[in-house]
Amino acid sequence: MPTSPAAPSAPVPAPAAPHSIIATNWDDHFATIGRRRNLVEAIRIRQVFAAYRRLLAGVALPASPRVLELGAGTGHASLRLVEAFGGHATLVERNRSARGLSRRLWSARGLLDRVEHVAGDLLDFDRGATFDLVHSGGVVEHFHGPDQARVVAAHARAVAPGGLLAILVPVDTVRYRAFRATLRAVGKWIYTDEVPWPVDLAPRLFAPHGFAPVAETTCGHERGYLLRRR
Ligand SMILES: C[S@@+](CC[C@H](N)C(=O)[O-])C[C@H]1O[C@@H](n2cnc3c(N)ncnc32)[C@H](O)[C@@H]1O
Repeated sequence: MPTSPAAPSAPVPAPAAPHSIIATNWDDHFATIGRRRNLVEAIRIRQVFAAYRRLLAGVALPASPRVLELGAGTGHASLRLVEAFGGHATLVERNRSARGLSRRLWSARGLLDRVEHVAGDLLDFDRGATFDLVHSGGVVEHFHGPDQARVVAAHARAVAPGGLLAILVPVDTVRYRAFRATLRAVGKWIYTDEVPWPVDLAPRLFAPHGFAPVAETTCGHERGYLLRRR
């Protein structure tokens, strides 16, 4: 349920013009994850599902929810959701290594028949408002300029009327800056196009699409938002 808002720090500069932002090389990210146990990733996986549990506590989901994850990476978050709530997940991801890692993960848990991997750009994904729960984590903060409105629209249009949207996004806090500075100091900051959002931005951007806030929580240096489509 709602937690106290994260303390704002000095504003991060607005995203630079899109042409001056260097795109994150997701192959580097997944090469690290695929090669060996990654402590930062292992901690984040635990934090993400704990955050989802807090967000979804007391919220009724359909018996067999249709789950959509945009920018699904290794698919760990949707896997845990399907294990906990049943249903079926559609994972949209354009990185081939990530999809491979995800297939291995779902296969190892014997749940390959409960997932569909969609290769492609999440900005173009549109199967209508057919999902009970749409979610993403660590994704929206990588889209800037006109693509910010497109990434919001891609999430919003997928949610069935009355359905739920959960997003995790880094927010501009002292904790976020410390996390980023630490990874930079040890040469592990590779997320070149990541720009944390102001704490109130997610509810503001989704409100015009008919979404009302249900719950908020913290997730490490990220903030989690649960919104419901009217
Ligand atoms: C930080 S990772 C997050 C992965 C996963 N949600 C998690 O929490 O572990 C961001 C993911 O978004 C994917 N991604 C970024 N832009 C994308 C796009 N336009 N279309 C599809 N996937 C995209 C990246 O390949 C990467 O897997």
